[in-house]
Amino acid sequence: MSKIFAHRGYSGKYPENTMLAFRKAVEAGADGIELDVQLTRDGEVVIIHDELVDRTTNGKGRVNNYTLEELRKLDASAGYVGVYGVNPIPTFREYCEYVKDLPIVTNIEMKTGVLEYLGIEEKVLNMIHEFHLEDRVVISSFNHFTIKRMMAMEPELKYGFLSETWIINAGKYCHEQGVDCYHPLFRNLIPSVVDELKSYGLEINTYTVNTPEDVQDMLDKGIDIIISNFPEMALEVREKQ
Ligand code: G3P
Ligand code: CA
Repeated sequence: MSKIFAHRGYSGKYPENTMLAFRKAVEAGADGIELDVQLTRDGEVVIIHDELVDRTTNGKGRVNNYTLEELRKLDASAGYVGVYGVNPIPTFREYCEYVKDLPIVTNIEMKTGVLEYLGIEEKVLNMIHEFHLEDRVVISSFNHFTIKRMMAMEPELKYGFLSETWIINAGKYCHEQGVDCYHPLFRNLIPSVVDELKSYGLEINTYTVNTPEDVQDMLDKGIDIIISNFPEMALEVREKQ
């Protein structure tokens, strides 16, 4: 059965990548949570999607121009200012503390596609170990070099390559590179692509599936993880199977 993951937490209804959105995803019954990690100026791993704080907070500028203390003063409520109180940018540590005893799988997206954030790999891996999350994480990135570096450091964890383009023979590529999962944009999962990926035994984890029709299509195609901004909707579609 396909798993339903909440994209940036329950971001369809709550401010993305906040503890509120993560808690709401758990309350909704999601099987897992997808989130994005970056580094502050003083090297703390924080959960935020853009390299700039402008879109999702009341601040301006690059995440890595802020210390953690400065960053924590911002409100990441974005389109929900004043609706759910103040929602700071979470640290990855705070998130790990929250999920450590929950049966939730976390898809950690390493946001190293624009800025490399050298050293972020070790910090994330150390945190996974500290909170004993080894069996409850899938690590992905658009930067496949990041994934290869992490695989070399910690081969036992589950890794996936993210892609938003139409790659030919993606299954062969993933297999040759030794990753367990492929994370494509859902629109690229035409039958021949799904077949090629499955022929290599890859786990297929797709984003961002936000309508009941598209969720149904992904269920019909036997996709392993369906990542959605609306986990409740996706769970309802799955329950009707
Ligand atoms: O990990 C799936 C998806 O989150 C990748 O795209 O831009 O939403 O981080 P983006
Ligand atoms: Ca992401």
